[in-house]
Amino acid sequence: MAEEYPRDQRDAVYRVIAERRDVRQGFRPDPVPPEVLGRVLAAAHQAPSVGFSQPWDFIVITDRARRERIAALAGRHRDAFAADLPGARARAFDRLKIESILDTPVNIAVSCDRTRGGRHTLGRATQPRTADFSSVLAVANLWLAARAEGLGVGWVSFFDERELAAELGLPAHVAVIAYLCVGFVDQFAPEPELATAGWARRRPLSWAVHAEEFGRRAMPGEEPVDQLADVLAAIAAPDAEAMAAARERQDRMTKPRGSLGALEDVSVRLAGLAGGCPPPLPEPACVAVFAADHGVHAQGVTPWPQEVTAQMVANFLAGGAVVNAFAAQAGAEVTVVDVGVAADLEPVPGLLPRKIARGTADFTEGPAMTRDQATAALVTGAEIARDLVAAGNRCLVTGDMGIANTTASAALICAFTGADPADATGRGTGIDAATYARKIDVVCRGLDRHQPDSGDPVGVLAAFGGFEHAALAGFILGAAALRVPVILDGVIAGAAALAAVALAPDATAACFAGHRSAEPGHAVTLSHLGLRPLVDLGMRLGEGTGAVLALPLVQSAARALRDVATFDSAGVAEKS
Ligand SMILES: Cc1cc2nc3c(=O)[nH]c(=O)nc-3n(C[C@H](O)[C@H](O)[C@H](O)COP(=O)(O)O)c2cc1C
Repeated sequence: MAEEYPRDQRDAVYRVIAERRDVRQGFRPDPVPPEVLGRVLAAAHQAPSVGFSQPWDFIVITDRARRERIAALAGRHRDAFAADLPGARARAFDRLKIESILDTPVNIAVSCDRTRGGRHTLGRATQPRTADFSSVLAVANLWLAARAEGLGVGWVSFFDERELAAELGLPAHVAVIAYLCVGFVDQFAPEPELATAGWARRRPLSWAVHAEEFGRRAMPGEEPVDQLADVLAAIAAPDAEAMAAARERQDRMTKPRGSLGALEDVSVRLAGLAGGCPPPLPEPACVAVFAADHGVHAQGVTPWPQEVTAQMVANFLAGGAVVNAFAAQAGAEVTVVDVGVAADLEPVPGLLPRKIARGTADFTEGPAMTRDQATAALVTGAEIARDLVAAGNRCLVTGDMGIANTTASAALICAFTGADPADATGRGTGIDAATYARKIDVVCRGLDRHQPDSGDPVGVLAAFGGFEHAALAGFILGAAALRVPVILDGVIAGAAALAAVALAPDATAACFAGHRSAEPGHAVTLSHLGLRPLVDLGMRLGEGTGAVLALPLVQSAARALRDVATFDSAGVAEKS
């Protein structure tokens, strides 16, 4: 067996890996001595490469005029990116410095010649991308060596690649892989700046390690993780001390006691969820629209054809739906999740492809899905919550799309609350009397057939659920486990919340009822959950629209608790 390095040398290797940072602030103007730069470039040049093709070149740029032109190219793309961001993200982005082209004495562009070595380059023939990967490994070597030399490196990717290539005089067959700003710094930040700035969180290693197959998460030497069990175990009751502190602060704020009505309760619940007072502002916010199709559509419960689900998904992604308009107004991002649309969807930015199956089965004929599918959808929803929080979101908003999903919701609500189908079934998008009678009958037949046991929430979801219901339940559980508020939309989210709360009663602490939908089953649901809706406008659209309208209310409640002066601090006399 080859000898391992002595302990101190191993420690140095791990230290440089842990302490490498992307640096954008605090560069010193001191020039980088040629011998230091030479050592760092030699380290880069020792990187592994596909078929030993060494496809990289290093363009070392110091000329001020050239750097000014390059900074202008990056500036244009920075502005275009910023223009596309929703409110809170845009404010956070404004505070970020994304390049140090002029602040550093040296810039280094790392390129890739994807043709070097000819057609028989080992490995590249089957995987052309390996040429680029090899150049990236050269960047990694450079970045680590630079850290050891006390040199900060910042990677700038706000470029049109060909524009930058032209500025650097690259031939057409050579691509820019990385543009690096390099200079001495006084110190290296202990954590990535984007983490410190609250833009994103580091994913725990245990989320990233799978045993044998994707999805079977397990650290080496440990049993595979039961993700759903882990999520459920992480859900805890709200913090009573934080809630008491919030209540007490509300009473000392410069306003008559109780004058913010239900918003005072919202702020107290946010404090309880966060475990501190004041709680963090619930922003940025992201709406996740879970879309899926339903086998029960075959029973004629809606006049809308099933294809509308996929067509509306395209509309959400194109920004043309009501939820897009409301989200733009409220400064929230919209993400669409395909958990079971009965069509193949094109991969486009903003769409998360997480299809469990192409629609559920008809629940009047058998279970809508298998228990394994229900569990997979629950885990998918929880993972999406987790990833959206890791990406920096501090408030999640539920959305849904699925033709016939009010029928599935009515069945779920009856199963979880014991409500009569006639009281829990609504007219959905608007149906005539005959269709309505048929819809109630469909729900009755489903309940008769499956004899649901509300003590077995996964079984209930499998019997009636849409994949979007099960995924939304997981999304709510995921938010609760991370102690991030989740604003519920209408009857579909409500039905999902019933499942979530049946699995983990403390999950209610994370739930804020965005609105009361006109669907009768929703009122039943809200009273069962003990949630008070914030908006009541007779809406019945779904998509997340009612929840998004409530977002500024939840955010205002948190901000008031944080920003409003108290009688003592402001020197305002209290009522005697
Ligand atoms: C491929 C790549 C491109 C990047 N592009 C940019 C960029 O354009 N602007 C920027 O500020 N940071 C950029 N970064 C830096 C990352 O934001 C940074 O590496 C990440 O936040 C982790 O921080 P750390 O490198 O300090 O661990 C880039 C990083 C990589 C790997």
